[in-house]
Amino acid sequence: MPTLGIIGSGNIGTAVARLAAAAGIPVVVANSRGPRTLAGLIAQLGPLAAAGTVEQAAEAGDLVLLSVPLIAHTGVPPAPLAGKIVLDTSNYYPSRDGRIAELDEEKLTTSELVHRHFAGARLVKAFNNILAHHIPELARPAGAADRTALAIAGDHPEAKVDAAALIDRLGFDTVDAGPLEQSWRFEPEAGAYTRLYLADHGTPDERMLQAPGRPVAASEVRRALQTAERVRVAGRAF
Ligand SMILES: NC(=O)c1ccc[n+]([C@@H]2O[C@H](COP(=O)([O-])OP(=O)(O)OC[C@H]3O[C@@H](n4cnc5c(N)ncnc54)[C@H](OP(=O)(O)O)[C@@H]3O)[C@@H](O)[C@H]2O)c1
Repeated sequence: MPTLGIIGSGNIGTAVARLAAAAGIPVVVANSRGPRTLAGLIAQLGPLAAAGTVEQAAEAGDLVLLSVPLIAHTGVPPAPLAGKIVLDTSNYYPSRDGRIAELDEEKLTTSELVHRHFAGARLVKAFNNILAHHIPELARPAGAADRTALAIAGDHPEAKVDAAALIDRLGFDTVDAGPLEQSWRFEPEAGAYTRLYLADHGTPDERMLQAPGRPVAASEVRRALQTAERVRVAGRAF
């Protein structure tokens, strides 16, 4: 299996790196502080994992997971990602990212904004609609009866095929939500966002980061995407 580059070694980057290592997929992981700060994680991930600079992670394989806070994406150089399939996990949280007028005015979805910076890459939005702790909890081998599906979106059909094949190896089915322009359907507070995977839908916001998940089949994710209503982004406080 080709190497997966991972830029961002936080909650999502680490969760995906663990699944990749477990699936026999080599990874090169980068963060903002440099490869030496990743020694502990790399030791846990085992021999298929290496730490690298952002450029090395970007150049390591055809697919690269980009999992940095939205506000930080412009700090990642676009040139090494040209021609790559970039799995973008970004979500817009104004409390963290500051207010971004084009998103508040709903002129763009978050991943369309990110794609503008990485114009030479083929961007697939993925792993943004599931809480980090639900990733190891809900990953299952292909064909498992209780397999969970994740939503993806992108403007390049062949890139979505390759992204779906990777995500399948990592432990999830996928449901194609369409082009990036439609990805609001699984952005914060929309119907196909993280609450969908909570075992208890009544979980208060402040307890979500500890709350158990539940398997969600592709048919249910598809329904959630179809029935999602566009969130008034400017009204979001967090
Ligand atoms: N947490 C979740 O449950 C969750 C779920 C779905 C989607 N998301 C979204 O996924 C994205 C990442 O979330 P997260 O929770 O994984 O974030 P996080 O834990 O804060 O980790 C962010 C990572 O990005 C790295 N980083 C920041 N700027 C960078 C740069 N210029 N170059 C290279 N690396 C850089 C950081 O490096 P250092 O380690 O060196 O600081 C860190 O490893 C966000 O957009 C978030 O909204 C999160």
